Amino acid sequence: MSDPQLLSRFLEVLPRFRRRFPQLEKDVHGNKRIHLNSGAGTLTVDTAARALNEAATWLNSLPGEVYPAEIATKNFHWQIRGIAADFLNAPQPEGITFHSSTSQALVNLALSMRGLIRGRNNLIVTDIDHMANVSPWESIAGRWWGAEVRRARVTEDGRLDTDHLLSLVDPKTALLALTLASNGLGTIVPLEEIIPEVRKKSPSCLVCVDAVHHALHGPIDVQAMDCDFLAVSGYKIFGPVLGVLWGKKDILDRLAPFRVETARNETPFKFEQGSLNNAALASLGAALQYLLWVAGEVGPGAPSKDDRPAAFRRAMAAISTYERELSRIILEGLAALDPEKIKCYGIVHPAERSRRDPTFALEVTGRSPAEVKKFLWKSRGIQVADGNHYSAVFYRHLGKDSICRASFAHYISPEETREFLASLAELSA
Ligand SMILES: Cc1ncc(COP(=O)(O)O)c(C=O)c1O
Repeated sequence: MSDPQLLSRFLEVLPRFRRRFPQLEKDVHGNKRIHLNSGAGTLTVDTAARALNEAATWLNSLPGEVYPAEIATKNFHWQIRGIAADFLNAPQPEGITFHSSTSQALVNLALSMRGLIRGRNNLIVTDIDHMANVSPWESIAGRWWGAEVRRARVTEDGRLDTDHLLSLVDPKTALLALTLASNGLGTIVPLEEIIPEVRKKSPSCLVCVDAVHHALHGPIDVQAMDCDFLAVSGYKIFGPVLGVLWGKKDILDRLAPFRVETARNETPFKFEQGSLNNAALASLGAALQYLLWVAGEVGPGAPSKDDRPAAFRRAMAAISTYERELSRIILEGLAALDPEKIKCYGIVHPAERSRRDPTFALEVTGRSPAEVKKFLWKSRGIQVADGNHYSAVFYRHLGKDSICRASFAHYISPEETREFLASLAELSA
């Protein structure tokens, strides 16, 4: 299907997607709302919420080999690793590990590199990342083990400065921690172009990708990207609070995570601390099944049951096409407002919308981010976020304590998007 055909099909089925999120138009108190805060956590899809409860009721806590209920838990863990692997187009489920959050997964991963990163090495973090993919590397590998930490810059218009990043890589670069998209600006980082260049300069460099912000917006393919590790969070893909970390199996095998001595010392189990949260895993599985259902809805025809990675690709490509349309509406709308009154950070030219996710950091002259947030809520029930969003862009590069961020997901309609613009227009009038 061409992009216009896909977009028109998406708009046709959008009401069906919206119905899967019963909390979309009203909050817990019944207040009418427009939820533009998916960057801080998407809404949970109906089946993912129900799956939590079902699993808590029915699943045996621990896997085992003898009676049906414990065998079911063992199979269930592999099933969820399998569907998560397919979502990322990972070659095998053994590379998937589960953690209480992505922040915890990345601390755990950094600790597991003891012996591998030393004082003679350097590592690279960036000013476009979420701090969850900065602090573990700086504090553990840098301050503790003595590796030199290098920081890749961000350009004026909110992109990663790729030339600067590549100038920092040398044969002693042991690790590059990099995001797939900025949770502050929405900028997508072209990892498929950057990683091969990094590997030319430092063949042994490990690349750890934070895909948390991008995961709800477009396809992810760890094989095409050729990264070594990649993390996503369940609550940013319509499911539960949970960290999912994928790693190349042969590299995971070489790492030495801190673990309880009696726990299984093999990949993937050695990375998981304590018992798995079955209710959260079931909810994650249901959230990913929702995306497979989306693949069928956007068509053409039903996706092949034997090629789940292709079905995820189809769903996420359709979502990305639709969200680019939302970005077009926003960026064209913002361009019509007085630039002296409203500033949008990052990529702002509508023609470049495919280089960004629909996440918009905004400043209104003469109003604090908290005031803007309050105005949007009071005027039309629009929910946005303020604060630094743990984004190195604001926290470090721009040194801003707070900025307003409106973050969209595929369940937001064009009408709601226009309401947001109308509110901004009132604010700047
Ligand atoms: C881009 C990005 N990376 C990492 C994280 C941390 O994820 P978690 O809350 O699962 O620790 C977040 C959470 O906001 C995020 O937006």
